[in-house]
Amino acid sequence: MKTEVLRIKTGSDHRDAVDQAAGVLRSGGVVVFPTETVYGIGANAYSDDAVEKIFRAKGRPQDNPLIVHVDSLNSIGMAALTGGISIEPLKTLWPGPLSVLMKKNPLVSSLCTAGLDTVVVRCPDNAFARDMITAAGFPVAAPSANVAGRPSGSDAHDILAELDGRVDLIIDAGRSKFGIESTIVDPLHRPPRILRPGAFAVEDLEKFFPGIVQEKFKIGRDEKPLTPGMKYRHYSPEKPLYFATPAQIIDLNRSDRGREFAYICSRELSGEIDGLRIELGSRENLYEIASSLYSSLRKLDQVPRKMGVIEVFPERGIGVAIMNRIEKAALPLGRAPKS
Ligand code: TXA
Ligand code: MG
Repeated sequence: MKTEVLRIKTGSDHRDAVDQAAGVLRSGGVVVFPTETVYGIGANAYSDDAVEKIFRAKGRPQDNPLIVHVDSLNSIGMAALTGGISIEPLKTLWPGPLSVLMKKNPLVSSLCTAGLDTVVVRCPDNAFARDMITAAGFPVAAPSANVAGRPSGSDAHDILAELDGRVDLIIDAGRSKFGIESTIVDPLHRPPRILRPGAFAVEDLEKFFPGIVQEKFKIGRDEKPLTPGMKYRHYSPEKPLYFATPAQIIDLNRSDRGREFAYICSRELSGEIDGLRIELGSRENLYEIASSLYSSLRKLDQVPRKMGVIEVFPERGIGVAIMNRIEKAALPLGRAPKS
């Protein structure tokens, strides 16, 4: 398949690109488009054939359902049956990095929801994405833009390298604002609960979903995952990656094995160690860390080291989502093979 690439600039007129992307979607094709979290691989959520192409492009297991994107709160009914739930919080939180579990509108392809009678819906805070959905005239199913198992695509440059030839069109809008996926909430559960931590922290949501709980996202072998996606390997670079505290990393760096590793770390820790470092940004600004996380994981595969170690961050605010991704992408340093 030949992939066309269109570059757009934030704030400039993107009408032609919107029309072209919507045209591809209307003819049943697949478009990679920007959102404020990560890029999505989009197709018509009402069409089994179109949705099937997303699963194929990603190599995604068919039991892992896709998020459905709408252009506004007014269009929520195009994706979900909203009876029985309060959409009041969405008046403030949408458009934004919040995805909500609801009863599925029967028009949504059951391939898209992996046969479930629920659907996860989101309205992205990105003008291009919303205009494209409006112009298409149907909700757009879109998982993160990456091959299944790999780090999500938050930078058009990485996505081109990975998805060229697998999709019809890529809209290149540079780097995503948050760089980490949306928070998924189940408002039907009592109490409401977070199914996947993301760009909205639990603190951001408490006011809107009173009593909201953040489950433990690690699952034992026999437990039922909160979302089907939880049971799969995720966000992983090809090389072995381990996570460790700053103190452990300093020890490792000074040890005989120190030169075998690439160090994915904060600017602060980078100043305290030697060797090959991939900087994530300041430890004092976890949003900065989030926004460079996935491209840094991808960089590990390009540097001349056999393995990597990544610093851990405090589990507060967006740090919960950062650590959730790091723990899926990496193993604790203690489990690294001894050389
Ligand atoms: O920020 C985001 O949410 C990005 C952008 C593109 O919008 N999308 C995204 O999609 O992260 P994806 O497919 O990579 O992750 C969707 C997650 C998966 O873990 C999936 O299992 C879960 O949502 N999910 C989708 N539908 C579900 C459902 N009906 N019930 C439970 N979990 C569901
Ligand atoms: Mg994903």
